Amino acid sequence: MKHVFDDGREAARTMDAEDSLRSFRDRFYLREGEIYMDGNSLGLCSKDAEANLLAVLEEWKTLGINIWSRPPVQKFLYQDHLGALTAPLIKADADEVTIHSNTTINIHTAIGTFYEPKADRYQILVDDLNFPTDRHAVDGQLRLKGIDPEKGIALVRSRDGKTLATEDIIAAMTPEVALILLPSVLYRSGQLLDMKTITHEARKRDIIIGWDLSHSIGAVPHDFKAIDPDFAVWCSYKYLNGGPGASAGLYINRRHFEKPAGLPGWHGNVKETQFQLNHRLDKAAYAGGWQSGTQHVLSMAPLEGSLKMYEEAGMDRLREKSLKLTAYLRFLIESRLEAYGFSVGTPYEDENRGGHIALEHEDALRINEALKDAGVVPDFRFPNVIRLAPVPLYVGFEDVYELVQRIEIIMDQKKYENYDNKVGPVA
Ligand SMILES: Cc1ncc(COP(=O)(O)O)c(C=O)c1O
Repeated sequence: MKHVFDDGREAARTMDAEDSLRSFRDRFYLREGEIYMDGNSLGLCSKDAEANLLAVLEEWKTLGINIWSRPPVQKFLYQDHLGALTAPLIKADADEVTIHSNTTINIHTAIGTFYEPKADRYQILVDDLNFPTDRHAVDGQLRLKGIDPEKGIALVRSRDGKTLATEDIIAAMTPEVALILLPSVLYRSGQLLDMKTITHEARKRDIIIGWDLSHSIGAVPHDFKAIDPDFAVWCSYKYLNGGPGASAGLYINRRHFEKPAGLPGWHGNVKETQFQLNHRLDKAAYAGGWQSGTQHVLSMAPLEGSLKMYEEAGMDRLREKSLKLTAYLRFLIESRLEAYGFSVGTPYEDENRGGHIALEHEDALRINEALKDAGVVPDFRFPNVIRLAPVPLYVGFEDVYELVQRIEIIMDQKKYENYDNKVGPVA
């Protein structure tokens, strides 16, 4: 959608006043004067998440072992309950989603399940811009099958170091490719890939395809009934605000429910017979069959509180506000910051961008440090990107206006020159 913006604080305030999601902000722990732009890395704590965590702690205190079996939410089935709360965000069936472990392990689980190399079809197609853990997991899975990653990887390369072209991805789907793993939104530039076209092209060629939704779930609504991928994984601590290290998500398309799990464990057993403790696994025929060991209940409880907010807010309203916020940020960058040497590395069109803006500058690292001292929480990604995520649940239009004001002051006063060009242990 084309937005026309006005460059002034009053215009930002008017947009905040008209925002139907505005009241959600009061349910988050925002620090006075701070502008939080890092919700694509670690989402903020909400009072809802906190209350749910405290409630589950209370259950542990009062129920002991009975926490597993006592209604209303038996924690033995917590992964199903949270799966059902998450499924609407991607328009999947409730039993196609389970909450489990971390994203890296879920990639291992999914590839361990779906990668069945043959003599003439053994490659895994990946891109050169994805987050490194995806590649580490793919390389590890190739090695486990006795395949040298040098031979087993089919790599689609970015032409500009920022984005991927759909036609290049399709051209890389050669007869040797058995499986594809791609990110829905690129973690650095924020490009949203055309998941539907790419998935359909893969399925036409009988290639298994899975998506890493870490940078889109909770920011971009997905329609998995229309996209129809084989599997997907995601982090719950970014836009889903589930808390540091919150249990991750795994989607298994129901056409695969009968397949054996790649990393099986006793929690993937049919629930009715799990406690018969048989050595022969009777794998459950739904996404819960991909569970391995005991659920990380205390890393799931805040997520439950947070997911209920998504139910209230609705993904379509969130996406609409998110697109308006990122379009507004782009407008202010183009009208006020280009003169200082800034540019935007995120695709322009709504359908090609996720929830953050990649602000580029040759001095990005030092400017990022100066921003932190000016009360902004951004993050830096090599070589020249400051990522700015105006998360619609808790960031407003005046925050974006104020962010750009603070960047202008840093540039006018050359404050960034007081910082080293060095990255700390967490960028
Ligand atoms: C695309 C993507 N996948 C996975 C991860 C991290 O996975 P894990 O939760 O296993 O650390 C990240 C972290 O930022 C990511 O950007």
